[in-house]
Amino acid sequence: MFRLFSGFFGSDIGIDLGTVNVVVYVKGKGIVINEPSVIAVRRAQRGGRKEILAVGREAKAMVGKTPSGIETVKPLREGVISDFDMTEAMISHFVRAADDRRGFFSRPRVVVSVPACVTEVERRAVVDATLSAGAREAYVVEEPLAAALGASLPIHEPRGNMVVDIGGGTCEVAVLSMGGIVVCKSIRGAGDEIDSAIVSMLRLNHKLAIGEGTAEQIKWALGSVLPLEEELQIEVKGRALTDGLPSSILLSSIQVREAIEPIIQRISETVKETLESTPPELVRDIYEQGLVLAGGGALLRGLSQRLSKELNVPVFVAEEPLLAVTNGLARILENLDSKRPILNTVERGSF
Ligand SMILES: Nc1ncnc2c1ncn2[C@@H]1O[C@H](COP(=O)(O)OP(=O)(O)OP(=O)(O)O)[C@@H](O)[C@H]1O
Ligand SMILES: [Mg+2]
Repeated sequence: MFRLFSGFFGSDIGIDLGTVNVVVYVKGKGIVINEPSVIAVRRAQRGGRKEILAVGREAKAMVGKTPSGIETVKPLREGVISDFDMTEAMISHFVRAADDRRGFFSRPRVVVSVPACVTEVERRAVVDATLSAGAREAYVVEEPLAAALGASLPIHEPRGNMVVDIGGGTCEVAVLSMGGIVVCKSIRGAGDEIDSAIVSMLRLNHKLAIGEGTAEQIKWALGSVLPLEEELQIEVKGRALTDGLPSSILLSSIQVREAIEPIIQRISETVKETLESTPPELVRDIYEQGLVLAGGGALLRGLSQRLSKELNVPVFVAEEPLLAVTNGLARILENLDSKRPILNTVERGSF
């Protein structure tokens, strides 16, 4: 009987709806989807609808390689929805893929993480997109809060907990205490901007054109924010701007470090400004306990050491930085009903 009912209502699902990656967690199953936030569509003929060709990894493989008539869309920009219809299509695709007990009645309760500094309208857009994607109930929770829970910080205590989430579209810095956000700052200028800086540097200094996908791979292979014991080097292939022909150069981690330096400085400045506007009692806690880095940007070589030196606080990297928000969503789903009053940022929409 119980099984019948749970099948009737569908499962509880958490979605980290990131600018670069979408991670879907299903209660009782774990992470079932971890895919790029990209969708490939055939452009609409006059009056028609766009036809969805691929979502996630398959769509990302098409970026920069599509013929006319087909386009790849990243429906989120800087952490928020920039293309509502495509976001809804993407959520709907992933929720259906995650929930194998499909069917009309299989309507899950869905918690989606959103950047802390979004407007009420943007928050509502996420709830609406989730509900029209088939959720029975939709909630949103602020990303830094989820990341802090995922990193096992004692956010419910009267204690200063600091999280720096460096994602693809935004860098969010937040101080939490007693289950809520006390101070929060968000800047554009995270992973995507680092990739753009690498594209520009290669154009300017090496007259080589590359795509964003290649820039991201260069960042993974060579990205660092402090001198390395052994500097790295790889061959980069692209199109020469001089004669338009295929060409390659040898690129070193030193050149990449110089190119991304302004973005790293801005991140460091933002953390500093957040500390400056944090009440002194909480700053004392952070001085003693340190701050936690989350998001893919936390994987940049040397970032924790550099921030620790510049800010004079201990800096730790979350165990699985790319999954910190999802791990926090999992904690919320463990007991969604009891978490409702604690997470005052959670909003409910009903179908
Ligand atoms: N090893 C690595 N070194 C540097 N950057 C990395 C590494 N691995 C992943 N990244 C970067 O992390 C970013 C993705 O991180 P994450 O999944 O946390 O972002 P997101 O949640 O999709 O974005 P946002 O939270 O801004 O909406 C991408 O820019 C990716 O290139
Ligand atoms: Mg994120």
